[in-house]
Amino acid sequence: MATTNASAPKRSLALPESARALDKLNRQFSVGGINSLPVYFGSGQGSRLIDSDGRELIDFISGFSASNLGQRHPRILEAQLNTANRITIANIAGQAEGWPVLAKTLCEKFGYDKVVAMTTGSEATDTACKLARGWGVSVKKINPRDVLVLGTSENYHGTISGVWPLMEPEAGWEEFATFSKNMTNINPKTGKVLRYLHPEDYAEVFEQMHERIAAVIMEPLHGLARSMEEEINFCIEVRKLCKKYNILFIADEVRMGSCKTGRFLSSDWMGPENKPDMVTLGKSISGGAFPASFVLGPDEVMTKMKPYHSVSTFSMSSMAVAAVQAALKVYEEDNLQQRARDIHAKWAAETSTWNFPYLRYAPGFGADLNLLLDEEYQNRPENISPRRLSLLCVSKGLLVFPGANGRVRLGVALTISDEDLFQGFKILKEALDELPLYGDIEGSEETLGAF
Ligand SMILES: Cc1ncc(COP(=O)(O)O)c(C=O)c1O
Repeated sequence: MATTNASAPKRSLALPESARALDKLNRQFSVGGINSLPVYFGSGQGSRLIDSDGRELIDFISGFSASNLGQRHPRILEAQLNTANRITIANIAGQAEGWPVLAKTLCEKFGYDKVVAMTTGSEATDTACKLARGWGVSVKKINPRDVLVLGTSENYHGTISGVWPLMEPEAGWEEFATFSKNMTNINPKTGKVLRYLHPEDYAEVFEQMHERIAAVIMEPLHGLARSMEEEINFCIEVRKLCKKYNILFIADEVRMGSCKTGRFLSSDWMGPENKPDMVTLGKSISGGAFPASFVLGPDEVMTKMKPYHSVSTFSMSSMAVAAVQAALKVYEEDNLQQRARDIHAKWAAETSTWNFPYLRYAPGFGADLNLLLDEEYQNRPENISPRRLSLLCVSKGLLVFPGANGRVRLGVALTISDEDLFQGFKILKEALDELPLYGDIEGSEETLGAF
């Protein structure tokens, strides 16, 4: 750790000119998002991004797994350009000629009977829950007014009104009146949040009202716990309880699917005997090159969906089909499940040598990495916070993201070179080392982490 001289003046860090100007404009005219960092990008290649001030940054967040294959992957780009040269969009009245074959490929690859396509991850999770409710009503014979889909704490499924109530009450229920009696992560009987990593909460709620519950949705791996085993064992236990009570288990693979954790689906770590009833895919299933998302499941659930029950102008479009087909080939041909495991091993070896009193632990689940900072140090002279650390990293040429609860979110593309990976580790370590020497850091006033 850099030695702090209590009487020495602290360093300060200002934003570069263009970032400051764009940030001002952004704040004046736009809303939404997740308290992004004041850094704006116009181009990139692989794991390198160029910002509006001409700075080159190594991408250590990959759009929260949207760009697991990096920027402008040549094989995806080629497939997209070929398609864009032939067609713009002809959808809904007819369909893209490549879609039926891609639908077959997806069902066979993941072992499900049917697939429904959408564009965003939020649409996929929402549709999965809708399908599960439909199954609950027509197969499990639950009264439509009573049917429940349960979430779990700390997970994220999107902020559209349908799935928002699956997340904690603090996450905007009151302000936007997104209460739902059908979709919740609160035990309706006890009023307590159903906690991630606490199977006993599910044992309790299932025991109390299993006949009303159609499904549980969760991310099989989320990246918060110290080890992958802890998270997977929790999911396995909930999955087993689901089987016992005839409740569907939906794995939200939007972020941790697409080889991120070292297997194609994070739920693959649960073992074939615990295979989820349904999965959602999004983000990097298309290499992030075009919005495409999917829900896969068994006939018993999926055939409840009739025409007009799920339709989206840009789903199954020719560009989406081209990007997904190309991305699937890249994952397989380049053996990227193995690459995720290599990245994990390199991260574990590197961070095992780090020793900062304000770093609690550094979990790595394949290429999804995190730093968990001790929040106590935010109010000490060291002034350590995820946002301050992230801004210092950006100034040194590394893009990372400040999350909530002391969490610095990291996640690298599976195509990252070892050179960029090790350079990223070096910058991160240097920033952790030097952060106590800094006073004012422009842009650090936004303290709220999103998730
Ligand atoms: C696990 C998970 N599910 C769903 C979503 C929502 O996806 P989108 O932002 O594409 O709507 C996200 C987004 O980060 C996610 O991480």
